[in-house]
Amino acid sequence: MVIKTFDEYQTAYKHSVDDPESFWAEIAQEFQWRKPWKKTLQWNFTEPSIKWFVGGKLNITENCLDRHLATRGDQPAIIWEPNDPHEASITLTYRMLHDQVCRMANVLKRNGVQKGDRVCIYLPMVPELAISVLACARIGAIHSVVFGGFSAQSIADRINDAQCKLVITADGAYRGNKEITLKGTVDDALIGCPSVQRVIVMTRTRTPIAMFKGRDVWMEQELKQVTAHCPAEEMDAEDILFILYTSGSTGKPKGVVHTIGGYMVYAAYTFQNVFQYKHDGRTGPQVHFCTADIGWITGHSYIVYGPLACGATSLLFEGVPTWPDAGRFWDIVDKHAVNILYTAPTAIRSLMSFGLDKVKNHDLSSLEVLGSVGEPINEEAWHWYDDHIGKNRCPIVDTWWQTETGGLMISPIANVTPLKPAYATLPLPGVQPILVDENGKEIEGNGVSGNLCIKFPWPGMLRTTYGDHERCKQTYFATYPGLYFTGDGCLRDEDGYYRITGRVDDVLNVSGHRIGTAEVENAINMHTGVVESAVVGYPHDIKGQGIYAYVIIDQPPVDNDTDLMKRDILATVSRIIGPIAKPDKIQFVVGLPKTRSGKIMRRILRKIAEGELGNLGDTSTLLDPAVVEEIKEGVV
Ligand code: WTA
Repeated sequence: MVIKTFDEYQTAYKHSVDDPESFWAEIAQEFQWRKPWKKTLQWNFTEPSIKWFVGGKLNITENCLDRHLATRGDQPAIIWEPNDPHEASITLTYRMLHDQVCRMANVLKRNGVQKGDRVCIYLPMVPELAISVLACARIGAIHSVVFGGFSAQSIADRINDAQCKLVITADGAYRGNKEITLKGTVDDALIGCPSVQRVIVMTRTRTPIAMFKGRDVWMEQELKQVTAHCPAEEMDAEDILFILYTSGSTGKPKGVVHTIGGYMVYAAYTFQNVFQYKHDGRTGPQVHFCTADIGWITGHSYIVYGPLACGATSLLFEGVPTWPDAGRFWDIVDKHAVNILYTAPTAIRSLMSFGLDKVKNHDLSSLEVLGSVGEPINEEAWHWYDDHIGKNRCPIVDTWWQTETGGLMISPIANVTPLKPAYATLPLPGVQPILVDENGKEIEGNGVSGNLCIKFPWPGMLRTTYGDHERCKQTYFATYPGLYFTGDGCLRDEDGYYRITGRVDDVLNVSGHRIGTAEVENAINMHTGVVESAVVGYPHDIKGQGIYAYVIIDQPPVDNDTDLMKRDILATVSRIIGPIAKPDKIQFVVGLPKTRSGKIMRRILRKIAEGELGNLGDTSTLLDPAVVEEIKEGVV
């Protein structure tokens, strides 16, 4: 399954297009199945209905753990680096991880979790997070990991949407020099979550927390009650593995559903190939360090499932890149002799701003492959990463993909694909991109740009949005019938290389986090005194995009203190969504530019937020063009 040369890539690509079923069947055969599948693929993009490895039976943890015990039981599976560099790191071999996953799975069973039940996981980046995820998969429960930066309200929305029966959390979390409460936030969330019967609490910060009799149990005590024997549940290839919530252009976040067989094959195949992971690296099995949080898809696929399915060593980091100082990533690379570093442009830009002092004095010679994910990488950041981190000897794989795609889609293969700065380059085998215009007409040839769609299924693609299949259809398969629509704009240059230019819908990408403008507007509108708001993105040096909010209020703020009122609004947004969705700029306005039919003209608001005041285009269709002048004068 490993591609070694560009010729092999081209051959594999051709095979994957000419005969996708035999292409993926060959790869899937390398895994451990309890029962073989009867049909490799059944699909239509109308309903949509997508099934891979139909009738196949397996358990993903047998592939990620048991399968490796004979050959690499004593090899590190997970290396954990704590927030505080003075605290000891932890290495879990495959045998230890297997043991701990089985124990945690038994704890879940003891607490009433059965196959098909949904479990919400709200934990810091500690080994127990990966262990909990795998424990769910072991017994066929469906995990829904919620990123630690989300508010009680967001947790409650996600728990209720999936009707979770159990929550796994911790007393608190360390993030840089901050201590964050997790259990308290979960307690607030659970006031409105009748489906939850049990909360399992691990201790991390050991801060005093409320523990409710009959509902809350300590993880440590529960683990003492179980053995490490837990046979894996036999699952269907199309049973749900997990739900992961992500933002779209309308309404509340939706639960993207991934199923077991296809997701496993795709996460593993893309991991192995794109990063060219080696078991026989210069100093043994390579160390792969993906800096994402397991609360996002990148962590699911490239900290947990992809690496473990390939028997790799995966590094899990609890802290932040800038604490105790901006050299922390380089310190970790040095300390653990990291070979593959996979991070986001926003982190690179942030670390760049601290200068080279923090990079010096760290031995980065172990690095062999660098990766980038989450947002377009600008050329300046690409070159800094290449020059100062990779020392011009490590390929940079700029990987384009989405929560919905399950794994990498358009990306170079390290040391195989000729690179071009700021380009995701070429589609991976099995991925058939197509650019279309507004009307859905294919834009052929090279040197063109359009909306990026995918015209054929790949094993890692989403199957539905949890509890609302119609929403999945409307969001991804209705805009351009017969195609999966990504929501991204894209150009294909003269060489046929792809460059993702950013979202074409109302989704923002702030520090690599996906945030819907409608979500932020709804949160702002819940603030007392706010009549209406409009949110747009604007270019931000470090975050990629910043959030700019135009807000109409019904009367002057209390004490006439507009600054304080802005901070109040930020507090409301933090409560409703979480700190990651706080606007960077708020401007109070008396009106919003609307068409005669009442539609907000975001194009104009975007231009103003970008500072392009002289170039607003046609404003003649506005109901009240004077509003624009007023907004221009009040720009913040
Ligand atoms: C953006 C993250 C440019 C894109 C894996 C996509 C990128 C959204 C890249 C998905 C990249 C991701 N270059 N843009 N290499 N990778 N994106 O679901 O807009 O959190 O639609 O998945 O991030 O974000 P998500």
